Amino acid sequence: MTTINNEKSSKLKIQMKGISKVFETEELETHALKNIDLSINEGDYVSISGPSGCGKSTLLSLLGLLDMPSSGQYFIEGQDVSDLSLDEAAEVRNKKIGFVFQSFNLIDELSVFDNVALPLRYDVERPTIETITKRVNECLELVSMSHRKSHKPNQLSGGQQQRIAIARALVANPAILLVDEPTGNLDSKSGDQVMDVLAELNKNGTTICMVTHDPRYADMASIQLKLLDGMILTTPVAQLAV
Ligand SMILES: Nc1ncnc2c1ncn2[C@@H]1O[C@H](COP(=O)(O)OP(=O)(O)OP(=O)(O)O)[C@@H](O)[C@H]1O
Ligand SMILES: [Mg+2]
Repeated sequence: MTTINNEKSSKLKIQMKGISKVFETEELETHALKNIDLSINEGDYVSISGPSGCGKSTLLSLLGLLDMPSSGQYFIEGQDVSDLSLDEAAEVRNKKIGFVFQSFNLIDELSVFDNVALPLRYDVERPTIETITKRVNECLELVSMSHRKSHKPNQLSGGQQQRIAIARALVANPAILLVDEPTGNLDSKSGDQVMDVLAELNKNGTTICMVTHDPRYADMASIQLKLLDGMILTTPVAQLAV
């Protein structure tokens, strides 16, 4: 079992026990994930890498409740989320998960401020405009983009757009930030800047789980997992060093 113990905190954010995912079509069964055990504690920075088709995106979709496992148990902050209805999954996802994708997925018609504010405007707790403004400004500050809050996404560079996407992912204070190939659409300089933002966020306590092909970026994580053929290969570096 891959149990990750981080010295910063022992508070368990994410736990998967014996998670499997099988995709079935009429003529084909694909075992995308096989018996995954995974624990992520508060403050961890986990990278997941491995060859194309090994199950990285499938794992991230399950972690983010975008899809449900075929078997196994999944807990987020102690809550069993293994078998939720679509509506329940959406509610937990909005509250607990921040997503950052390779394609920034910003809304071109909205300003940077309104893009970042969007998750709070859908929050069932209906925060006040003052609360929303304060939180959006804090998150723009975290990614050093306060000076661009009135711009539209297409008036920004790729790296800046990704930083806005990170601010949006953080705005509802998620339990974990799930990041899929964040630098895939960026030149290396912008990619490095985005990775610096993630490292800084983690230093200040944000829990991150990131899929990346790039070994340099995987190395920035404190816990590096390798997937092969739907299974976790690597023992966390922290344990190897013992
Ligand atoms: N919706 C689906 N239906 C059927 N098979 C799928 C589906 N999604 C993924 N798979 C299969 O599951 C396996 C894992 O796919 P996944 O997308 O998780 O790989 P990956 O590691 O993210 O690959 P890449 O690095 O290319 O993005 C692959 O064999 C893929 O063909
Ligand atoms: Mg993928």
